[in-house]
Amino acid sequence: MRLLLIGFGAVGQGLATILRDQAAYLLERSGFEAHIVGVVTRTRGLLYQPDGLSIDALLEAIGKGHLDLYPTERGLIRQMDPLDLIRTAAADALVEVSYSNLQTAQPALDYCRAALESGKHVVMANKGPAALAYAELQALGQQVGKFVGIEATVMAGTPTLRLALEALAGCRILAARGILNGTTNYILTQMESGMAYGEALEEAQALGYAEADPTADVEGWDAAGKAVILAAAVFQQHLSLETMPVKGISHLTRVDLEEAQAAGECWKLIATVTPDGGQVEPVRLPLSHPLARVSGATNAVTFSTDLLGDVTLVGPGAGPIATGFGLLADLFTAQRAGQLKKS
Ligand code: HSE
Repeated sequence: MRLLLIGFGAVGQGLATILRDQAAYLLERSGFEAHIVGVVTRTRGLLYQPDGLSIDALLEAIGKGHLDLYPTERGLIRQMDPLDLIRTAAADALVEVSYSNLQTAQPALDYCRAALESGKHVVMANKGPAALAYAELQALGQQVGKFVGIEATVMAGTPTLRLALEALAGCRILAARGILNGTTNYILTQMESGMAYGEALEEAQALGYAEADPTADVEGWDAAGKAVILAAAVFQQHLSLETMPVKGISHLTRVDLEEAQAAGECWKLIATVTPDGGQVEPVRLPLSHPLARVSGATNAVTFSTDLLGDVTLVGPGAGPIATGFGLLADLFTAQRAGQLKKS
């Protein structure tokens, strides 16, 4: 599979690292082989090499700050309009890992459309297109016979959407409720151990958990975006972030957390989605509650179903490798879809 990456921040580098370090295992175990042929960034350069880019050299260049530091070689292109590149590149899949814009989803949404229209699969960790245009992109994908993967947008690589859409197919899912933001859960956990809010946020940023603008995390918008994605994928409902009740954790103080601890409780940022709507708010849970034990950047979601009752999934919710894995899972599915079509 030839991949064109849009964005090359923590998540894009996480996927590149997996593809480099697991190449032999992926090929031997699953017959999966992927090459990065292009990388487009907003401020750190562009590279297109139809023969495939060296992942070591890519990571080294971006580590030093700019893709211009990638060594010059025959056939390498460094400047091109991103949309032209997406339309004309010899690539099998677009990997959208640029920052999430939950207001307009742009320019990522146009990039996804252009990729599908030019016959490429699309997989994304970018929550903008998934939250604002899931139904449109799925319909377009079906129309052109290409896969649209959004697993990495909710709970990183923890297979939340696969569980809901595949393993639980046949059940009626009545509600989804849980901890859908890694950064805030990390901050709350660290604050409970005595760390100051600002220091905990800085750590979450350094570990690659936080959004480019962490306001989206701490004010609840990232969790709300994931609630909108779950509503679209699981309930075929279009929820609007403008009307959804959303409250974050930035107003919570150490005193609030200590008061909760003294009462045998803890604060968690809980997102809830039903076919009728969604909301995000900090909630005080008894320490005996299963979600109270979910700590750090770990996330959890409980799907309430008619036939199975409650099914809870717990796993990594953020981080470069965990999110890169979500993209890899979607690339596997895209490859299988291509193989099925050929046979
Ligand atoms: N900023 C997000 C989080 C990244 O902390 O959960 C994963 O979507």
